[in-house]
Amino acid sequence: MKRTHVCGELRAEHVGQEVVVTGWVQRTRDHGGVIFIDLRDRSGVVQTVFDPARASGGVHERASQVRNEFVLAVQGRVAKRPAGTENPRLATGEIEIVATEMEVLNPAKPTPFLISDEADKVDESVRLTYRYLDLRRPRMRNILELRHRVTKAVRDFMDGEGFWEVETPNLWKSTPEGAREYVVPSRLHAGRFYVLPQSPQLCKQLLMVAGVEKYFQIARCFRDEDTRADRQPEFTQIDIEMSFVEQEDILSLVERMYAYVFKRVMGIEIATPFPRLRYAEALARYGTDKPDTRFGMELVDLSDIVKDSGFRVFQQTVASGGQVKAICAPGCAGYSRKEVEDLTKWVQQFGAKGLATFALGESEIRSQVAKFLTAEQMEEIFRRCGAKTGDLVLCVADQPDVVADALGRLRLEMGRRLGLIPKGQYNFLWIVDVPLFGWNAAEQRYDPMHHPFCAPLPEDLELLKAGYTATVPPGHPDHPWGKVRANLYDCVLNGYEVAGGSIRTHRRDVQELVFGAIGLDFEQAKERFGFLLEAFEYGAPPHGGIACGLERLIMILAGTDNIRDVIAFPKTGDARDLMTGAPTVIDDQTLAELHVRTIPSEE
Ligand code: AMO
Ligand code: AMP
Repeated sequence: MKRTHVCGELRAEHVGQEVVVTGWVQRTRDHGGVIFIDLRDRSGVVQTVFDPARASGGVHERASQVRNEFVLAVQGRVAKRPAGTENPRLATGEIEIVATEMEVLNPAKPTPFLISDEADKVDESVRLTYRYLDLRRPRMRNILELRHRVTKAVRDFMDGEGFWEVETPNLWKSTPEGAREYVVPSRLHAGRFYVLPQSPQLCKQLLMVAGVEKYFQIARCFRDEDTRADRQPEFTQIDIEMSFVEQEDILSLVERMYAYVFKRVMGIEIATPFPRLRYAEALARYGTDKPDTRFGMELVDLSDIVKDSGFRVFQQTVASGGQVKAICAPGCAGYSRKEVEDLTKWVQQFGAKGLATFALGESEIRSQVAKFLTAEQMEEIFRRCGAKTGDLVLCVADQPDVVADALGRLRLEMGRRLGLIPKGQYNFLWIVDVPLFGWNAAEQRYDPMHHPFCAPLPEDLELLKAGYTATVPPGHPDHPWGKVRANLYDCVLNGYEVAGGSIRTHRRDVQELVFGAIGLDFEQAKERFGFLLEAFEYGAPPHGGIACGLERLIMILAGTDNIRDVIAFPKTGDARDLMTGAPTVIDDQTLAELHVRTIPSEE
């Protein structure tokens, strides 16, 4: 039997036609001799009917033995369902196939979970172990299709803009970009290793030196770092690089790309240009460089109000260069002591030492620190926070980075708890004016904010040079390297960093100055990046680019906060593949060929 139609597309217009459909058994029912089998393929579900009066031979008998997830081919005539038996929840609900022939293409064992969206409730490790069954479910199948539609739209858009998709190697040289690298031993070269690329960063820059001018790639990237809800060790970027451009050209291209994808795939209009927020302002107002701007509850600085108050924590924090900042949770003045204590514990996970609260009740103000503040100070706190009767001001005093992290997270948590985050809204924004370096206090050195290939703003080149002869030590607030601004930009969507890029350094002398500032001496730089530095001496054009995280975009479009949902075969939080069992042990002979010896671990 050869398939003539797909299940999900049969409609009333097919009534009377002889068809053959194939697929999996969604469910079977026996209504006193008449057997109903719902058959599912990628396109949807259709009801087939086996009436002993019409399905002759052994067909009816065989149908009675069919179980869920058997693979069948069914032949029959499309008929209108008897009045009253239509199923409006099914696209094919007006019709059914009155079967005359049926072939079991493959039987199936009972599956570990029912193939239905109810299985969202099944333990994820079971779903990942049997991922091929999980992907049969409508929700997962829809996400697979969505991902295909998005990449297709991206390719069409980029092609229309004159970009070429160029593939770059996965067996690459160790060129650390920030995360730890996955290492691949070389069989032919004992003791030598390839690494899997964290991104095609250097390849795309070399393609610019090669004269490609407009490059993109749907590129696989590999990073051996802790996985999180929005991070996987293996992920995909829409990777872009262009020559002879300025920041504005890249921002505009990416805005048009996102708008095109949203329109074509979702039918949603996205307003361009996207708003822009300076990095420092994002941290000040939202406590993060990836703010979710779908709701307010911004951070408010109270330092000047409380710096001379009687509360020693506030006073001393401000005196030692710290801050006292707050958010205002609407309608939470009635929080019990226990609820406030729980919130305090919650922020303490993120390094806050405590949480001072000010509840603006109908007739009274409640605060653990009321006795240390004057009525005017409290009034000013409420005023500055925009608090109304019934609101609760939540306040953290600490060094700026702790305040930002703790309050930024608390803002999101309260936004979620209070249902302040609207669904179906897509808030894109650019984070701009990012510093080139951040001070790494643990290692006592400057690290690139993004990667070492971002260009300093041309007007800050002198600061970069001045850093080498500065009189204050590195890390000091007056050190010139802390002030160098980068030609760097990140794109944020609903609180996710969905893209990041920069204008690059294209001159060897400037690149060497940057390497020096991040503590790579001349020899190390040459050893790691010599090929790039040399390429820069053969006429490297000015260039810049960006990479857009594909999974995060799909997550937002699919309305999930779990990155594993948008990857066909994802890894677990500890980087395992539960379906295959990878990573697995490799036999000694193979290891010997690779010149690798393993050190037995404790376990
Ligand atoms: P960056 O490291 O910022 O930049 O990565 C770009 C975008 O890729 C996504 N992303 C991830 N998605 C899932 N899992 C991960 N582990 C993960 N890591 C990053 C994010 C991020 O914004 N070469 C530079 C880009 C450039 O400068 O052009 C780069 O890789 O959405
Ligand atoms: P304590 O004096 O430690 O008992 O704190 C009194 C109140 O101030 C408690 O509600 C603490 O949670 C709060 N508090 C203590 N330290 C801080 C801080 N660094 N920032 C905000 N509130 C704090």
